[in-house]
Amino acid sequence: MEILRTVSQLDELTSNAKAAGKSVGLVPTMGALHNGHMSLVERARNENDLVVVSVFVNPTQFNNPEDLRTYPRTEEADCALLRQAGVDYAFIPSVEEIYPEPDTRVFDLGPVAQVMEGPMRPGHFNGVAQIVSKLFAWSHPTRAYFGEKDFQQIAVIRRMAEIAGFNDVEIVSCPIKRADDGLALSSRNVRLTPEQRNLAPSIHRVLADSVNISKVASVSDTEKAVVSQINSIPQMKVEYFSIVNGYTMQPVADWDETDYIVGCITVYCGDVRLIDNITYRNK
Ligand code: PAJ
Repeated sequence: MEILRTVSQLDELTSNAKAAGKSVGLVPTMGALHNGHMSLVERARNENDLVVVSVFVNPTQFNNPEDLRTYPRTEEADCALLRQAGVDYAFIPSVEEIYPEPDTRVFDLGPVAQVMEGPMRPGHFNGVAQIVSKLFAWSHPTRAYFGEKDFQQIAVIRRMAEIAGFNDVEIVSCPIKRADDGLALSSRNVRLTPEQRNLAPSIHRVLADSVNISKVASVSDTEKAVVSQINSIPQMKVEYFSIVNGYTMQPVADWDETDYIVGCITVYCGDVRLIDNITYRNK
């Protein structure tokens, strides 16, 4: 595996590969890699001639400076995992390399970005669109891989690709990887205290149980049941739980409104912000 630090290396190596008829799989990450990330990498490895993984804690998508400051950074361990997984290029640039000057682009991300994480984290999705559009432009991916843990992010990236003209990039969404106890793997889980780590799997448990509730209750009663059950757990406070159309991210009022329905949740466990989701309907 080669570690690339500059945009010009990335651009040149991937355009040469494309010119030689090879497919390129891109997996954008912010590092502190775990099995969730590695499931995307494995899939990219199986489906492409060349695999590029980017590791970059993107400052423009952090709306909370403390979150950016304390975001885990584990470059050596990340490289060991990526090498083991047979990755060709790890792109690990500095902030100056990516943003030699401030990125002032404002993306018109539309309704998919105006709900849930949108209002809760002002500027977040615009920052995601900035970095992912740069990565797409510089790595010429045939396919780019994203996890359904960040369910709304995938819709935002599809929209960014549409408006920025990346029509030839196949955006591949990959299922959530969980710990054995059900907690969705996340780089932020290392910030949980041992007690919080024991409580955190209850988020997925409540969501999974709510699939049964949804068979006999309305959308809004299902939402209320989930929120009250999670809020009754010590240290847990639901920020939002929204049952949405899985294509448009807009709230649904009825279970028969569409064939793809997902419940998206954000919970503060102490001061750690955890996100997860559950599928109620998928065709
Ligand atoms: P990061 O949080 O590092 O996640 C990188 C990718 O891994 C995302 O597509 C995310 O959805 C996926 N992922 C994280 N945990 C997962 C899990 N438990 N199961 C499956 N996939 C999982 O998301 C970002 O970084 C950034 O916003 C990024 C897209 C890299 C732009 O900076």
